[in-house]
Amino acid sequence: METVVLSTVKHHAAIVGSTASHRDNGSDGTRSARVRWPDEAATQAFAEALARQPALRNTFIALQGTLGAGKTTLVRHLLRALGVQGRIKSPTYAVVEPHEVPGLQIWHFDFYRFNDPREWEDAGFRDIFASPGLKLAEWPDQAGGMLPTPDLVIAIEPTGDTAREATLSAGTDAGMALVRAVAA
Ligand SMILES: Nc1ncnc2c1ncn2[C@@H]1O[C@H](COP(=O)(O)OP(=O)(O)O)[C@@H](O)[C@H]1O
Ligand SMILES: [Mg+2]
Repeated sequence: METVVLSTVKHHAAIVGSTASHRDNGSDGTRSARVRWPDEAATQAFAEALARQPALRNTFIALQGTLGAGKTTLVRHLLRALGVQGRIKSPTYAVVEPHEVPGLQIWHFDFYRFNDPREWEDAGFRDIFASPGLKLAEWPDQAGGMLPTPDLVIAIEPTGDTAREATLSAGTDAGMALVRAVAA
């Protein structure tokens, strides 16, 4: 695994420092990485880098971390970077908020209040996960085991007032491509 410090500067090439601890290799590269965001601007820069990856458009990303870690904030920056306009509601009450930009369907889930597995079928979640597009899920562990394997898990840990550390773990080749692209 590798720790990469993302500075607040806009361009992804501005990643500074890279403290290698260990690298968990898949057949063709990095499976997991650790990134550091000193402030929310760095979180935004990471979201923008992620948004530039073509592989993102057909993936399921699970977001882990305690209340206030920054899951929704990261998703909001990602949705903005992908071109979503207007108010971006948190799906805490609705469980899912759909978004659409030209050529891309996005679903933002928050399973914090999800407690009835029957809702999985009734609310059409199975269909959503069978559809092409980007699926983002906060509190995936609350989904009662209904979720498929995430392409990428982003686990966010607060390490200070505005500082966050995130562990990126790929579950598929698509996820590995993302980890390589945003944390290489
Ligand atoms: N580096 C950072 N990355 C993300 N959020 C940050 C950061 N620094 C401060 N914050 C703040 O922390 C809060 C995170 O809240 P939120 O995204 O709703 O968390 P979660 O969805 O994980 O419960 C927001 O108020 C956000 O502005
Ligand atoms: Mg949230």
